[in-house]
Amino acid sequence: MSYGDKFQQLSKYDRETLKGNSLDWNRKPPLYKQYPPDLERFELEKPDQQGGQPLYSIIQQRRSKRSYNKTAVQGGKLSQVLWAAQGITLATEYHQFRAAPSAGGLFPIETYCAINNVEGFKPGIYHYQVPYHTLVLIKEGSYGLDLARAALGQKMLRESAFNLVWSAMIERSKWKYEQRAYRYIYLDAGHIAQNAALAAVSCGLGSCQVGAFFDEEVNRIIGLDGASEFAIYMSTFGET
Ligand SMILES: Cc1cc2nc3c(=O)[nH]c(=O)nc-3n(C[C@H](O)[C@H](O)[C@H](O)COP(=O)(O)O)c2cc1C
Repeated sequence: MSYGDKFQQLSKYDRETLKGNSLDWNRKPPLYKQYPPDLERFELEKPDQQGGQPLYSIIQQRRSKRSYNKTAVQGGKLSQVLWAAQGITLATEYHQFRAAPSAGGLFPIETYCAINNVEGFKPGIYHYQVPYHTLVLIKEGSYGLDLARAALGQKMLRESAFNLVWSAMIERSKWKYEQRAYRYIYLDAGHIAQNAALAAVSCGLGSCQVGAFFDEEVNRIIGLDGASEFAIYMSTFGET
Protein backbone atom coordinates (compact mmCIF):
# COMPACT_ATOMS: atom_id res chain seq x y z
CA MET A 1 0.00 0.00 0.00
CA SER A 2 1.40 3.45 -0.84
CA TYR A 3 1.70 6.08 1.88
CA GLY A 4 -1.46 8.05 0.99
CA ASP A 5 -3.59 4.90 1.00
CA LYS A 6 -1.93 3.75 4.21
CA PHE A 7 -2.55 7.10 5.88
CA GLN A 8 -6.24 6.96 5.01
CA GLN A 9 -6.54 3.48 6.49
CA LEU A 10 -4.40 4.10 9.58
CA SER A 11 -6.07 7.38 10.51
CA LYS A 12 -9.57 5.90 10.57
CA TYR A 13 -11.52 5.97 13.80
CA ASP A 14 -13.08 2.63 14.70
CA ARG A 15 -15.16 1.57 17.67
CA GLU A 16 -12.73 -1.14 18.84
CA THR A 17 -9.59 0.94 19.01
CA LEU A 18 -10.71 4.53 19.69
CA LYS A 19 -9.61 5.26 23.20
CA GLY A 20 -10.74 8.33 25.05
CA ASN A 21 -7.36 10.00 25.54
CA SER A 22 -7.12 12.55 28.31
CA LEU A 23 -5.77 15.92 27.28
CA ASP A 24 -2.67 17.38 28.91
CA TRP A 25 -3.78 20.99 29.33
CA ASN A 26 -0.31 22.02 30.48
CA ARG A 27 1.01 21.12 27.05
CA LYS A 28 -1.68 22.78 24.97
CA PRO A 29 0.12 24.77 22.26
CA PRO A 30 -0.60 28.52 22.10
CA LEU A 31 -3.54 29.51 19.91
CA TYR A 32 -1.92 32.53 18.32
CA LYS A 33 1.42 32.94 16.61
CA GLN A 34 3.40 35.92 17.84
CA TYR A 35 6.07 37.95 16.09
CA PRO A 36 8.68 40.21 17.72
CA PRO A 37 7.14 43.54 18.75
CA ASP A 38 9.65 45.55 16.72
CA LEU A 39 8.15 44.35 13.42
CA GLU A 40 5.98 46.88 11.61
CA ARG A 41 2.22 46.44 12.13
CA PHE A 42 -0.57 47.66 9.89
CA GLU A 43 -4.14 48.27 10.93
CA LEU A 44 -6.77 46.83 8.62
CA GLU A 45 -10.00 48.72 7.98
CA LYS A 46 -12.94 47.63 10.05
CA PRO A 47 -14.68 44.92 8.01
CA ASP A 48 -18.36 44.98 7.13
CA GLN A 49 -19.95 42.26 9.26
CA GLN A 50 -23.54 42.67 8.15
CA GLY A 51 -23.78 43.65 4.50
CA GLY A 52 -22.33 42.43 1.23
CA GLN A 53 -24.20 40.73 -1.56
CA PRO A 54 -26.84 38.10 -0.74
CA LEU A 55 -25.22 34.73 -0.01
CA TYR A 56 -26.97 32.66 -2.67
CA SER A 57 -26.10 35.15 -5.34
CA ILE A 58 -22.43 35.03 -4.27
CA ILE A 59 -22.40 31.24 -4.36
CA GLN A 60 -23.98 31.36 -7.81
CA GLN A 61 -21.33 33.82 -9.06
CA ARG A 62 -18.16 32.26 -7.62
CA ARG A 63 -15.84 30.97 -10.32
CA SER A 64 -12.07 30.48 -10.27
CA LYS A 65 -10.55 33.52 -11.98
CA ARG A 66 -6.96 33.18 -13.09
CA SER A 67 -6.25 36.50 -14.81
CA TYR A 68 -6.32 39.89 -13.15
CA ASN A 69 -5.89 43.44 -14.34
CA LYS A 70 -3.23 45.70 -12.87
CA THR A 71 -5.56 47.82 -10.73
CA ALA A 72 -4.45 48.09 -7.10
CA VAL A 73 -6.93 46.46 -4.73
CA GLN A 74 -8.36 48.76 -2.03
CA GLY A 75 -7.14 47.98 1.48
CA GLY A 76 -10.76 47.58 2.61
CA LYS A 77 -11.24 44.62 0.28
CA LEU A 78 -8.16 42.88 1.68
CA SER A 79 -9.53 43.48 5.16
CA GLN A 80 -12.89 42.01 4.18
CA VAL A 81 -11.34 38.86 2.70
CA LEU A 82 -9.10 38.29 5.74
CA TRP A 83 -12.01 38.77 8.13
CA ALA A 84 -14.18 36.31 6.17
CA ALA A 85 -11.32 33.81 6.18
CA GLN A 86 -10.25 33.93 9.83
CA GLY A 87 -11.73 36.94 11.61
CA ILE A 88 -13.16 36.62 15.10
CA THR A 89 -16.95 36.53 14.97
CA LEU A 90 -17.72 35.63 18.58
CA ALA A 91 -15.69 36.24 21.73
CA THR A 92 -16.80 34.66 24.99
CA GLU A 93 -15.01 34.65 28.34
CA TYR A 94 -12.94 31.59 27.42
CA HIS A 95 -13.08 31.25 23.64
CA GLN A 96 -12.73 33.27 20.50
CA PHE A 97 -14.62 31.78 17.57
CA ARG A 98 -13.76 32.59 13.99
CA ALA A 99 -15.59 33.00 10.69
CA ALA A 100 -14.68 29.46 9.60
CA PRO A 101 -15.17 26.31 11.68
CA SER A 102 -12.16 24.40 13.04
CA ALA A 103 -11.94 20.85 14.38
CA GLY A 104 -12.08 21.01 18.17
CA GLY A 105 -11.81 24.80 18.05
CA LEU A 106 -8.03 24.36 17.90
CA PHE A 107 -7.46 26.69 14.94
CA PRO A 108 -4.20 25.22 13.61
CA ILE A 109 -4.19 27.29 10.40
CA GLU A 110 -2.15 30.50 10.06
CA THR A 111 -2.77 33.03 7.31
CA TYR A 112 0.02 34.84 5.46
CA CYS A 113 -0.57 37.53 2.89
CA ALA A 114 1.88 38.07 0.05
CA ILE A 115 1.02 41.55 -1.16
CA ASN A 116 1.85 42.58 -4.72
CA ASN A 117 -0.46 45.56 -5.27
CA VAL A 118 -2.78 46.69 -2.47
CA GLU A 119 -3.44 50.38 -1.67
CA GLY A 120 -1.79 51.45 1.58
CA PHE A 121 0.49 48.41 1.87
CA LYS A 122 4.02 48.01 0.58
CA PRO A 123 4.74 44.77 -1.26
CA GLY A 124 5.87 42.06 1.14
CA ILE A 125 5.00 39.00 3.15
CA TYR A 126 2.68 39.72 6.05
CA HIS A 127 1.22 37.59 8.83
CA TYR A 128 -2.45 38.05 9.71
CA GLN A 129 -2.79 38.64 13.45
CA VAL A 130 -6.23 37.20 14.12
CA PRO A 131 -6.96 38.71 17.56
CA TYR A 132 -6.10 42.25 16.45
CA HIS A 133 -7.20 42.13 12.78
CA THR A 134 -3.82 43.57 11.80
CA LEU A 135 -1.00 42.58 9.48
CA VAL A 136 2.61 42.23 10.63
CA LEU A 137 5.23 42.80 7.95
CA ILE A 138 7.58 39.81 8.07
CA LYS A 139 9.64 40.77 5.05
CA GLU A 140 9.40 43.53 2.51
CA GLY A 141 9.62 42.98 -1.24
CA SER A 142 7.75 41.55 -4.20
CA TYR A 143 7.45 37.81 -3.82
CA GLY A 144 4.81 37.26 -6.50
CA LEU A 145 7.30 35.91 -9.01
CA ASP A 146 8.87 33.58 -6.43
CA LEU A 147 5.45 32.29 -5.45
CA ALA A 148 4.48 31.81 -9.10
CA ARG A 149 7.63 29.76 -9.67
CA ALA A 150 6.97 27.79 -6.50
CA ALA A 151 3.41 27.15 -7.73
CA LEU A 152 4.67 25.20 -10.73
CA GLY A 153 4.93 28.35 -12.81
CA GLN A 154 1.33 29.55 -12.37
CA LYS A 155 1.55 33.18 -13.49
CA MET A 156 -1.58 34.27 -11.64
CA LEU A 157 0.42 34.43 -8.39
CA ARG A 158 2.60 37.13 -9.92
CA GLU A 159 -0.25 39.01 -11.59
CA SER A 160 -2.57 38.95 -8.58
CA ALA A 161 -2.91 41.90 -6.20
CA PHE A 162 -2.34 39.60 -3.24
CA ASN A 163 -2.00 35.93 -2.44
CA LEU A 164 -3.02 34.25 0.79
CA VAL A 165 -0.89 31.34 1.99
CA TRP A 166 -2.31 29.03 4.61
CA SER A 167 0.00 27.03 6.83
CA ALA A 168 -0.69 24.42 9.50
CA MET A 169 0.89 24.55 12.95
CA ILE A 170 0.36 20.85 13.32
CA GLU A 171 0.98 20.50 17.08
CA ARG A 172 -2.09 22.61 17.82
CA SER A 173 -4.24 19.88 16.33
CA LYS A 174 -2.05 16.85 17.14
CA TRP A 175 -2.23 17.77 20.83
CA LYS A 176 -5.77 16.42 20.72
CA TYR A 177 -6.19 14.42 17.54
CA GLU A 178 -2.75 12.82 17.09
CA GLN A 179 -2.32 11.49 13.53
CA ARG A 180 -5.94 12.22 12.61
CA ALA A 181 -4.94 15.88 12.85
CA TYR A 182 -3.56 15.57 9.33
CA ARG A 183 -7.08 15.04 8.04
CA TYR A 184 -8.47 17.99 9.94
CA ILE A 185 -5.93 20.63 8.92
CA TYR A 186 -6.90 20.20 5.28
CA LEU A 187 -10.59 20.36 6.08
CA ASP A 188 -10.03 23.51 8.15
CA ALA A 189 -8.05 25.11 5.31
CA GLY A 190 -10.82 24.29 2.82
CA HIS A 191 -13.42 26.07 4.93
CA ILE A 192 -11.19 29.10 5.33
CA ALA A 193 -10.34 29.34 1.64
CA GLN A 194 -13.97 29.02 0.62
CA ASN A 195 -14.98 31.84 2.96
CA ALA A 196 -12.23 33.98 1.45
CA ALA A 197 -13.36 33.10 -2.09
CA LEU A 198 -16.96 34.04 -1.33
CA ALA A 199 -15.92 37.33 0.29
CA ALA A 200 -13.85 38.07 -2.81
CA VAL A 201 -16.97 37.72 -4.98
CA SER A 202 -18.85 40.08 -2.69
CA CYS A 203 -16.02 42.63 -3.03
CA GLY A 204 -15.92 42.29 -6.82
CA LEU A 205 -12.55 40.52 -6.77
CA GLY A 206 -11.53 37.46 -8.75
CA SER A 207 -9.82 34.63 -6.92
CA CYS A 208 -8.48 31.14 -7.47
CA GLN A 209 -7.39 28.33 -5.16
CA VAL A 210 -3.87 26.93 -5.50
CA GLY A 211 -3.04 23.45 -4.32
CA ALA A 212 -0.24 22.77 -6.79
CA PHE A 213 3.07 24.03 -5.41
CA PHE A 214 6.52 22.89 -4.39
CA ASP A 215 6.02 22.69 -0.66
CA GLU A 216 9.53 23.49 0.48
CA GLU A 217 9.81 26.46 -1.88
CA VAL A 218 6.65 28.05 -0.46
CA ASN A 219 7.84 27.28 3.08
CA ARG A 220 11.13 29.04 2.35
CA ILE A 221 9.43 32.12 0.87
CA ILE A 222 7.17 32.52 3.89
CA GLY A 223 9.88 31.53 6.40
CA LEU A 224 8.36 28.30 7.73
CA ASP A 225 10.44 25.39 9.00
CA GLY A 226 8.38 22.82 7.06
CA ALA A 227 8.06 20.51 10.09
CA SER A 228 6.27 22.26 12.95
CA GLU A 229 4.61 24.60 10.47
CA PHE A 230 4.15 24.08 6.74
CA ALA A 231 2.20 25.63 3.88
CA ILE A 232 -0.82 23.60 2.79
CA TYR A 233 -2.94 25.84 0.55
CA MET A 234 -2.94 29.18 -1.25
CA SER A 235 -5.39 31.51 -2.98
CA THR A 236 -4.85 34.38 -5.40
CA PHE A 237 -6.92 37.58 -5.52
CA GLY A 238 -7.15 40.53 -7.87
CA GLU A 239 -9.36 42.92 -9.80
CA THR A 240 -10.62 41.42 -13.04
C1 LIG B 1 -7.89 21.84 -3.47
C2 LIG B 1 -7.91 22.66 -4.73
C3 LIG B 1 -6.72 22.95 -5.38
C4 LIG B 1 -6.71 23.73 -6.53
N1 LIG B 1 -5.52 24.04 -7.11
C5 LIG B 1 -5.51 24.81 -8.23
C6 LIG B 1 -4.28 25.19 -8.80
O1 LIG B 1 -3.20 24.90 -8.32
N2 LIG B 1 -4.33 25.97 -9.91
C7 LIG B 1 -5.52 26.35 -10.49
O2 LIG B 1 -5.49 27.05 -11.50
N3 LIG B 1 -6.71 26.02 -9.92
C8 LIG B 1 -6.73 25.26 -8.81
N4 LIG B 1 -7.92 24.95 -8.21
C9 LIG B 1 -9.19 25.46 -8.80
C10 LIG B 1 -9.95 24.37 -9.57
O3 LIG B 1 -9.29 24.09 -10.77
C11 LIG B 1 -11.37 24.85 -9.79
O4 LIG B 1 -11.99 25.04 -8.55
C12 LIG B 1 -12.18 23.87 -10.64
O5 LIG B 1 -11.70 23.83 -11.95
C13 LIG B 1 -13.67 24.21 -10.64
O6 LIG B 1 -13.88 25.52 -11.17
P1 LIG B 1 -14.56 26.69 -10.31
O7 LIG B 1 -13.68 26.96 -9.11
O8 LIG B 1 -14.64 27.85 -11.23
O9 LIG B 1 -15.89 26.20 -9.88
C14 LIG B 1 -7.94 24.20 -7.06
C15 LIG B 1 -9.13 23.93 -6.38
C16 LIG B 1 -9.12 23.20 -5.23
C17 LIG B 1 -10.41 22.98 -4.49
